[in-house]
Amino acid sequence: AEYETILTEQRGRVGWITLNRPQALNALNSQVAAEVTAAATAFDADEGIGAIVVTGSEKAFAAGADIKEMESMSAAEMIATDHFGVWRDFAAVRTPVIAAVSGFALGGGCELAMMCDIILAADTAKFGQPEVNLGVIPGMGGTQRLIRAVGYYKAAELVLSGRIMGAEEAERAGLVSRVVPAADLLAEASTLAASIAAKSLPSIIAAKAALDAAMETTLAVGLDIEREAFASLFDTVDQKEGMAAFREKRPPQFVNR
Ligand code: HXC
Repeated sequence: AEYETILTEQRGRVGWITLNRPQALNALNSQVAAEVTAAATAFDADEGIGAIVVTGSEKAFAAGADIKEMESMSAAEMIATDHFGVWRDFAAVRTPVIAAVSGFALGGGCELAMMCDIILAADTAKFGQPEVNLGVIPGMGGTQRLIRAVGYYKAAELVLSGRIMGAEEAERAGLVSRVVPAADLLAEASTLAASIAAKSLPSIIAAKAALDAAMETTLAVGLDIEREAFASLFDTVDQKEGMAAFREKRPPQFVNR
């Protein structure tokens, strides 16, 4: 596919999406949203891809939704065009997505990171929901996913004050799974993505779906979903192979079936 605002690349079983709108610190306009989602959806449909990495530049993962594009819009237009609706398709991707964040992840940028399954941060990363500084509020999940990530009180402080937090604070808060030196970010993301992509794809898809269910449902319902998904994997070739390989003290040869 031909994209103008992102770069895409397949390395082994990992699909890479690099936001590439440096003149606007990767601000997420409609074109970026459509292209990121199209690329992620295409990788998702490709059985040769077992993990996706989304990253930006050293200076910015993404500095938010595009303020200049939104500025003159009316409420009616926002609703009628479903301005941020395309991101639902991004969030619905079944393949694990890692956000590798360096520099600014603000507003929609922080929200994009939170649509991913794992957030790896460079020590230079800065996270926040500064929308209140613009007279609006988060609109791509910031009030919902941030609470689930860091709890009500921390999320409330960030959303209500617009304060930006650094990588260490984001890790302590549970938003970020790991902080790494900026120079190592892409290598760390690559290693992590490759390790996920090397597992049996049906098990990885089931694991992500069960994790997602935990965000949506009660413990009892979530445990049922998990138990059924666990049982269903015993019909895969890879479950027999994985357990045989353990017994035979050798690495498994997964066939993604
Ligand atoms: C459009 C943006 C932008 C944005 C930066 N730029 N962020 N354009 N939308 N969100 C543009 C600037 O206008 C400028 O272009 C260029 O990128 C470089 O930015 P500077 O401000 O000159 O860089 P710097 O001084 O280093 O400051 C970096 C920054 C600042 C602190 C990140 O750019 C900033 O505060 N950006 C806005 C952050 C924000 O409020 N994000 C939330 C957006 S609302 P020109 O051509 O002017 O030089 C949102 C809603 C999400 O995300 C919910 C959806 C409904």
